[in-house]
Amino acid sequence: MAQVNDHYLKLQAGYLFPEIARRVNTYIDAHAEADVIRLGIGDVTEPLPPAIIAAMHTAVDEMGDRETFRGYGPEQGYEFLREALVDGAFAPRGVEISSDEIFISDGSKCDTGNILDIFGADNTVAVIDPVYPVYVDTNVMAGRTGSATDDGRFEGLVYLPVTAENNFVAPLPDRPVDLVYLCYPNNPTGTVASRETLTAWVEFAREHDAIILFDAAYEAYITDPEIPHSIYEIDGAREVAIEFRSFSKNAGFTGIRCACTVIPHELTGTTTSGERIDVHRLWNRRHSTKFNGVSYPVQRGAQAAYSPEGQQQVADLIRFYLDNARLLREGLEAVGITVYGGVNAPYVWLKTPGGVDSWTFFDQLLDKAHLVGTPGSGFGAAGEGYFRLSAFNSRANVEEAVRRFQQLVG
Ligand code: MLT
Repeated sequence: MAQVNDHYLKLQAGYLFPEIARRVNTYIDAHAEADVIRLGIGDVTEPLPPAIIAAMHTAVDEMGDRETFRGYGPEQGYEFLREALVDGAFAPRGVEISSDEIFISDGSKCDTGNILDIFGADNTVAVIDPVYPVYVDTNVMAGRTGSATDDGRFEGLVYLPVTAENNFVAPLPDRPVDLVYLCYPNNPTGTVASRETLTAWVEFAREHDAIILFDAAYEAYITDPEIPHSIYEIDGAREVAIEFRSFSKNAGFTGIRCACTVIPHELTGTTTSGERIDVHRLWNRRHSTKFNGVSYPVQRGAQAAYSPEGQQQVADLIRFYLDNARLLREGLEAVGITVYGGVNAPYVWLKTPGGVDSWTFFDQLLDKAHLVGTPGSGFGAAGEGYFRLSAFNSRANVEEAVRRFQQLVG
């Protein structure tokens, strides 16, 4: 008899974004005339930068020529892309990462979930609440939690609530934990972590022999020069942190798929017999066993994001989405809505008007204004009473969304 993984049954609802899509599609089926604007999932809308397109075209042509054709590439990624990241993403921030500490992959969502393969089942895991649901759901699937409680939290996980009351600064856990997920700029709140905050986390991890899983998928949106882009800008982080980077939200690769995970050689964990072991070696084993690399044309496209033209074009894209975020922020504030984030991140996090609960506001917004956002409670119990808007959309749609929002609330 084939037994299923019972832990999946602890997950009460579907994954958040397909669940929202399902509700929206049900609504559209019943209201075919509704011109629905989607500011829910953080999915890019603008075309790929020309430098990236040109590099991918050239790479595809190479694949059509016997002399330049390539089969399997290195599972860890081509050296040209790893070097482009060393020089383009880390060196300018004063961070020394060697190319063999970088593993190219097909996405940070996959990597932040898959990383659990190399950690023991008994680790205590901490997450910030509200949280990118992948961190929680993959731990549930891996059997690292008990059942869900009434507020949707899972027994066994350590939740660190962030709300307006603590200025969205995650409190350090009041007990030792082994793994902690940090995402900065933060999804969903759009807030950032200062150097002091990140330093406190690195010190905590060093003191408790914990590992920080640092998701930097939105680092390109940081506008404040004081805010670190990488956890490795903090002294001592190389011994305690893994960092996830993505081409999705900067270069527009949500449909193309390319990302990377950085594991410094100094990072170690402990075996059940108490031996210190290098984590890089385990991830390398996992990656080369379960993954066959990102396609060559995609890696060439990703490399082009760090060419001089590519960097300029990517910066223009980010400026465009940040301007959308500013329009949303200003438009909502103009009708008295309290808004957070959206300055160093493509997400605007708002207090639901009138204090209604997050899913009620989702329904009102969809029904009365034909706008889709993401209910804060979908990201965790501490997100109740909040709502997320994504700045990834055309300018016309964002302007129209602001107009409808103002009409509904104003
Ligand atoms: C989001 O909307 O939170 C993101 O699009 C999710 C993701 O990047 O997987």
